[in-house]
Amino acid sequence: MSVEAIRKIEMRAAAIGDITPIMELVNELAAQGAMLPRSPASIVEKLRDFIVVLVDGEFAGCGALAIIWTDIAEIRSIAVEPRFQGLGLGKKIAEALIDQAEELGLRRVMALTYVTGFFEKLGFEVVDHGSLPHKVFNDCLNCPKFHKCDEVAVVKVLKVPEIEEDIEAGLMPQPGRPLKA
Ligand SMILES: CC(C)(COP(=O)(O)OP(=O)(O)OC[C@H]1O[C@@H](n2cnc3c(N)ncnc32)[C@H](O)[C@@H]1OP(=O)(O)O)[C@@H](O)C(=O)NCCC(=O)NCCS
Repeated sequence: MSVEAIRKIEMRAAAIGDITPIMELVNELAAQGAMLPRSPASIVEKLRDFIVVLVDGEFAGCGALAIIWTDIAEIRSIAVEPRFQGLGLGKKIAEALIDQAEELGLRRVMALTYVTGFFEKLGFEVVDHGSLPHKVFNDCLNCPKFHKCDEVAVVKVLKVPEIEEDIEAGLMPQPGRPLKA
């Protein structure tokens, strides 16, 4: 498929009818080693985190934004159908999720990924896993690669200075930091 052949690109919140296409795409790409698999239950339970992209009405890709804590969200399960890859859809999905994070007032957005270059083009920087809050790794307990994680952590800092001030002032809950009375 070429960009010229596309008539309409649509992006929207995922709905019940998207569960099967999301599951099939993510797990097909996971079977090729491109990303981590997701259980049907985790997609159903987290469906509200997902957006989908449609090309001329056909499911073409997905991505999810999971809020981890008051200052950070994670981009998860970003995937484009192989025949639609390389057309800018992955970038559109990632940018839409970054916009959501910004609108929510989050300070940082992160991802654990094998496609570091894709995220670097979107302004993410590679960081040590240890620099991220422990809560990011809660889901890793169920991951088959728990003891040999080979994903790279990437972070993009967003511009929401007033939230930063609240965190510094102790008005926002942060793990391990007491709230000021
Ligand atoms: C990674 C993926 C989501 C990218 O989506 P896509 O629609 O193919 O990518 P786009 O066409 O939007 O590319 C946007 C930019 O990223 C670059 N890019 C895309 N894939 C890349 C990769 N694997 N490595 C480095 N750069 C990449 C493109 O060259 C393009 O650069 P440009 O803006 O300078 O032209 C898609 O290829 C995919 O589904 N891969 C398999 C699953 C996967 O790896 N998911 C990520 C899990 S975190």
